[in-house]
Amino acid sequence: MNLKGKHLMSPDDYTLEELQSIIDLAGKMVNNREDYGKLCEGKILATCFYEPSTRTRLSFESAMLCMGGKVLGFSDASTSSVSKGESVADTIRVIASYADIVAMRHPVAGNPQTAAKYSKVPVINAGDGGNQHPTQTLTDMVTISQYKGGLNNLTIAFCGDLKYGRTVHSLITTLNRYENNQFILISPEELKLPEEYKALLKQGSYVETTSLEAYMPQLDVLYMTRIQRERFADIEQYNRLKDSYILNRSKLETAKTDMMVLHPLPRVNEIDKDVDADPRGLYFKQAELGVYARMALIARLLGLEK
Ligand code: NCD
Repeated sequence: MNLKGKHLMSPDDYTLEELQSIIDLAGKMVNNREDYGKLCEGKILATCFYEPSTRTRLSFESAMLCMGGKVLGFSDASTSSVSKGESVADTIRVIASYADIVAMRHPVAGNPQTAAKYSKVPVINAGDGGNQHPTQTLTDMVTISQYKGGLNNLTIAFCGDLKYGRTVHSLITTLNRYENNQFILISPEELKLPEEYKALLKQGSYVETTSLEAYMPQLDVLYMTRIQRERFADIEQYNRLKDSYILNRSKLETAKTDMMVLHPLPRVNEIDKDVDADPRGLYFKQAELGVYARMALIARLLGLEK
């Protein structure tokens, strides 16, 4: 499987075999991390983050450092020349000559795509507005694969902000490409999954509900999300909707004993801390696996896999 030199804007850019080659490599890296400690020696990753991030940026940096590479970049656009009015196209043309691979997060949907057009090195979309977040999807796929042994025949609920949540948009369209997955879409009326994404789902593969409890006993995965405050034009609406769903231990009573509770993090109020001690609460494990997902991706895009 040769992914060398490719960009990653959306998981749809890759075939299922290509995605699997990344998941498989991430699995090997989980088991034998030391074997990969020199894989990226002499290589540089640039992280260009025009929007806040903790996990995504640091897990990219950790991934590169774990493989012996180096990192540079900015985490606040106000400290770069962007604040002087430089375009993404010009910024990337220069950064592509300072680094071998670039991860970019931008508040405007489509800007990493513009960067990819002008870059001579691979560009990875690390989240663009409310659109896509492909490396979170890789993280989610690695996590689900580790616990469920694969990505077919699953009932997955997405709960919270399905309108603005880019992690949901990337993951649901990807899981829809696998066999026999069922989706339960749990959200307030105002935050339903947009029609453009529903139109992509297989016929009869999803139901919409406002109830967190209704389908709980059937679920294999419950993917909780934060209400995306920064995407709301009307802060009153955010305040009304922000606590629509709060998962706690008593709500898990009817769930399967091996159901997975996932969350891309950061959580606000949507998962009570009492769920952290429940073995089904796997969101911190998921964040940990994000490093391996990104290690595998970087290695593949640099053509360095063993
Ligand atoms: C997500 C994001 O940035 O879209 N966070 C992340 O990358 N782990 C989810 C969120 O911010 O709610």
